[in-house]
Amino acid sequence: MTRGFIVTGTDTGIGKTIFAAGLTGALSGAYWKPVQSGVEDGTDTRSVAELTAGRDVRIIPEAYCFETPCSPHEAARIDGVTIDFDRLALPEVDRPLVVEGAGGVMVPYTDDTLAADLFAHWGLPAIVVARTTLGTISHTLMTLEALRERDIPVAGVAFVGEEEPVAQSAIDRFGTAPQLGRLPLLDPLDAPALQRAFAANIRMDLLA
Ligand SMILES: Nc1ncnc2c1ncn2[C@@H]1O[C@H](COP(=O)(O)OP(=O)(O)OP(=O)(O)O)[C@@H](O)[C@H]1O
Ligand SMILES: [Mg+2]
Repeated sequence: MTRGFIVTGTDTGIGKTIFAAGLTGALSGAYWKPVQSGVEDGTDTRSVAELTAGRDVRIIPEAYCFETPCSPHEAARIDGVTIDFDRLALPEVDRPLVVEGAGGVMVPYTDDTLAADLFAHWGLPAIVVARTTLGTISHTLMTLEALRERDIPVAGVAFVGEEEPVAQSAIDRFGTAPQLGRLPLLDPLDAPALQRAFAANIRMDLLA
């Protein structure tokens, strides 16, 4: 049976891919982005391959890559493609699987399926990647509520960004999910820096 984690988040562009690359490296795992919407500025799969360079990981190709950077249901429609759920079955791998969702939990993948419906179907625990900037408390707590509403196990919340103790402690208090730590903004952002920062800041012991 495939084990692993879904990496979801409060929003798009908040650091899921960077976190997922760190996690894949730390687990010696396999990374999979089932649906990539928008390919012009590079893909998440390529970013993770670069950010795990030299590590013992596997990178699994996307099931779907769409041209337009928008929600998968619309990106698929624009490309004239119907998403086939059989192609979104979890790949069988001999190592922990790190699955990165598109955007957040209520993103439509088809006209009648949200990301969270897929997560429930996959049955893997979810890690919620959250910004530390203004607005994160409500977004993070709503994300946790949407996951729990569907009985999706929450493995924890991981922050990305500058330290924001008030937001982080409110999310801890109201969200009651394991706090996995905070990945700082890295400059330069490369494979060695990411793996060092991930090891120093993220509580892998809570994911065991
Ligand atoms: N820890 C970090 N250090 C430095 N820059 C970061 C970090 N996390 C994210 N970024 C910056 O923010 C950008 C967006 O992050 P990322 O691609 O991980 O977002 P995402 O949540 O995966 O978005 P999407 O919903 O498109 O998959 C990155 O390209 C990078 O420039
Ligand atoms: Mg991403």
